[in-house]
Amino acid sequence: MDYQGILNVIEDKLVGEKLDGAVATYIPELAKVKPDKLGMHLTSVIGEEFHFGDSEERFSIQSISKVMSLALALLKEDDEKIWERVDVEPSGDPFNSLVQLEYEHGIPRNPLINSGALVICDILMTHLKDPQKEYLDFVRRMAGNSTINYNKKVAASEKAGGYSNRAMINLMKGYGNIQNDPEEVLNFYFDTCSLSMSCRELAQTFVVFANQGKLLKDEEQVLSEVHVKRMNAIMQTCGFYDEAGEFSFRVGLPGKSGVGGGIVAVYPNMYSVAVWSPKLNEKGNSTAGMRALELLTEITGSSIF
Ligand code: DON
Repeated sequence: MDYQGILNVIEDKLVGEKLDGAVATYIPELAKVKPDKLGMHLTSVIGEEFHFGDSEERFSIQSISKVMSLALALLKEDDEKIWERVDVEPSGDPFNSLVQLEYEHGIPRNPLINSGALVICDILMTHLKDPQKEYLDFVRRMAGNSTINYNKKVAASEKAGGYSNRAMINLMKGYGNIQNDPEEVLNFYFDTCSLSMSCRELAQTFVVFANQGKLLKDEEQVLSEVHVKRMNAIMQTCGFYDEAGEFSFRVGLPGKSGVGGGIVAVYPNMYSVAVWSPKLNEKGNSTAGMRALELLTEITGSSIF
């Protein structure tokens, strides 16, 4: 498949289309990003790399970090103990919704909405001596890149606000679903969201999910095949909050978005792909990112469906 030719067509089409959206401003540091950034990078399971635009520039990965948090939690905690505390159902609600959490007695619908990721961070805090360091080491290992880091300004900017997340974690603490100090869990969660990565680095990290849990460079099994199957299923059904159905319908791949404008998607046994365009639609997903991935699966004529 001529992926580079296809990416070039996608770039041309995106530039020609008028794609609306607004940069996230509820985390003040994110509002400073130039809205017209656009990049895309595809890594195939045989190690080929294709890209265009601002694919090397790092941006705030935000909720994409929830996937790596879950992957690490699956390595550290028994599966049953995780799934007792967080469900695996699509939420059909915004990523920061409180209503559903109260109805469901502090058990988040899935690990990819904010409340679910907070529970996963709580689990990690219980199991890791130095959560910030060990989480970063894990992402660096998956990415094969030791220069990836947190962005302290972004984390501080979110810590200074973050009231909805604070409300959620306190509600869950009240229901007995948070074991550690809520402020410390929040701090860890905000740090994970502040990771700064490029499309290339994200695609190279997520290729593990396309390569049955193995790193490309040495075929080391980082995640079991069963965990990879489950994580791809969760990304498929829950990766885009109340737009998960729309993403499945238009793109047809498991994936995950973040309010920094990034989207990563996985085609099992074929490739991983990351797109970045900071302008978001009303559901908090990158408008151009969704369109780029829709074009990719349309032009290649292939998706998991
Ligand atoms: O907790 C938050 O609101 C952000 N740190 C992450 C939200 C996010 O990226 C949701 N994505 N679409």
